Order: sequence, then structure tokens, then C-alpha cells
Amino acid sequence: MDAPTILYGAPHADLVETPAAAVQTSPLIPGSTALEALPDASAAAAVVLAPPGAVERAAVLAHALRALKAGGRLTALAPKDKGGQRLRKTLEGFGCAVNETARRHHRFCTATRPVELQGLEAAIAAGAPQVARGLGLWSQPGVFSWDRLDPGSAMLMESLPALSGRGADFGCGAGVLARQVLTAPAVSVLTLIDIDRRAIDGARRNVDDPRARFLWADVRQPESSSGELDFVVMNPPFHDGGAEDRGLGLAFIAAAVRSLCKGGVLWMVANRGLPYEAALTAAFARVEKRAEAGGFKVYRAQR
Ligand SMILES: C[S@@+](CC[C@H](N)C(=O)[O-])C[C@H]1O[C@@H](n2cnc3c(N)ncnc32)[C@H](O)[C@@H]1O
Repeated sequence: MDAPTILYGAPHADLVETPAAAVQTSPLIPGSTALEALPDASAAAAVVLAPPGAVERAAVLAHALRALKAGGRLTALAPKDKGGQRLRKTLEGFGCAVNETARRHHRFCTATRPVELQGLEAAIAAGAPQVARGLGLWSQPGVFSWDRLDPGSAMLMESLPALSGRGADFGCGAGVLARQVLTAPAVSVLTLIDIDRRAIDGARRNVDDPRARFLWADVRQPESSSGELDFVVMNPPFHDGGAEDRGLGLAFIAAAVRSLCKGGVLWMVANRGLPYEAALTAAFARVEKRAEAGGFKVYRAQR
């Protein structure tokens, strides 16, 4: 079999051509192959839509170079203001000779993988799963709020009562909310769902409880919801690939509606400026704002 092309992320077709048979390796695409699991020097080419975080980006580029055969071609691109301007320096730091171009607010760097590289191991170690000091839990650069407790999540945790029955944590991250939910003995099952494989891997390590189930999936997909739950907790995302996307929060609310039984309860925190009240009021029998401070609101909504 020919050596594969690696693809990381889903760059728009106008930006870069990718072979249909490329191996998808983004942890944000459920079902994809883990980039870190690819053998050294096994791929013929790599196309990387580099992520915005500096530590995460360097680790992804280092892994792509590690997995390329010597002489293999790396194409790395990123929006100019989300890491694009630093691509070249990072790749040159690894020992690549880089050709850089700019188009459609993106920077594009191409390089042929040299035989000798430097600094890959350090970049890979810095971006690897680790116990985050600020959180005391397993997480990884690139996971949402990976090394500190998000203030919105903290506020939801302060407001949550002891829950009971079957529940889900939508967009569970590394499992901070789930750990609190599972302190209630009356919770029988808790399904932790996140679109980020690294978050689910962290949550598996952080939530050691036989009542927990882990799902690497998109909450928006109908198969992620059961229709039989007694409760859902969530701190929904409001950024999608860096751009504000209120629709994502609304899709999370719709998924909660699909998942809850009659009388089931949604606990949700949201940024104060986001317009979720109308959607909650339209879909739930009773909606209460339970807390508001520091730019966040916590809602309890009952079906
Ligand atoms: C605001 S964070 C909350 C994380 C965690 N619950 C916490 O409190 O730290 C939102 C989470 O939703 C996840 N996410 C984003 N889009 C998603 C989707 N379509 N389906 C499932 N999870 C998603 C993100 O990966 C992120 O972990």
C-alpha cells in the first residue's frame, strides 16, 4: 500500500487541495485516527490546518513531521491572526526550510521533511496529556480551559443541587462538572459527551466511576441523544473554530430537549450576552434563572 497523506482538520477546499483518501487526524472529528498513534516516518505527505494555541500547534506540527517520511511534503496553514504568523518560525525551529505564502487571510507554509530535525520531542511532550497544575486533573493543551477552571463552569457547579437518575454532561471537557454530579449517590448513569477526543481521554482518567459512560461524539447528531434522561448539565461552547457561533449553543439546547424525558431538567450556564432565553422558554415548561454574576447566567429549565 502507498504511504498515506495525513490531514489534520478540515481546511476549506478553496484554501488547499487534499486527496480524498487522506487520513483525518484531528481530535475534533469523531472517528478520526490519532496523529500521535501514527508510526514514525510512515506518511508521504501532510496537510495541517494548524490549531490556534501555540503549545498545541507546535505539538501538532512536530507530530506531523515525526510521522512524515524524509522527503515527504508538509503543508501547514492557519488564519493569519490565529497562529498563521508564527507557523514559519515554529517550522524553522524544527530545522525545516520553509516556503511561505499568504492568501485569503491565511499563511501557508510548505516544507520538505529533512532527514535531521530538532526539538520535536520537547514540543510533543509540552503538548501531550498531563495533569494540569491549575486544575489538578488530566487534560491537554487544546482542550477547553485545559489548565484552569472556567469561571462559567465554576458558577454552574456552585448552583447545582444533588441530582438523581440518568443524566448526561454535554460538552464534558476534562470532566470537571461530571465529577461533581457523580458525588450524588442518586445519580444512576452519567454519559459524558464531547467532540474532542483529548477531552474524552482526560475525562476517562479523571472520572473513575462505574456509573460514567464516555462518548466521543457530536452532541448535535441525533444518535448522541437518548430521549430518556432525567437531567442534562452543560456549559455549551460558543466558539466554533475560533468564530463566535451562537448556533452551537442553540443546537446544544435542542439536543437537551431531545434527550430529556417529560419533567427532566436541564442545568446550563451561558455567557450573559448570549440570547438563549427565548429558545429555552419555547422548548421547556418552566425556565428559571438561578444565578447571574461575572458575565454568566445559570438556568434551570424543566421539560
Ligand atoms: C465551554 S466547554 C465546557 C467544558 C467542560 N464542561 C467544563 O466545564 O470545563 C464546551 C465543551 O464542548 C465541547 N464541544 C464543542 N462542540 C461540541 C459538539 N458539537 N458536540 C460535543 N461537544 C462539543 C468542547 O470540546 C468543550 O469541551
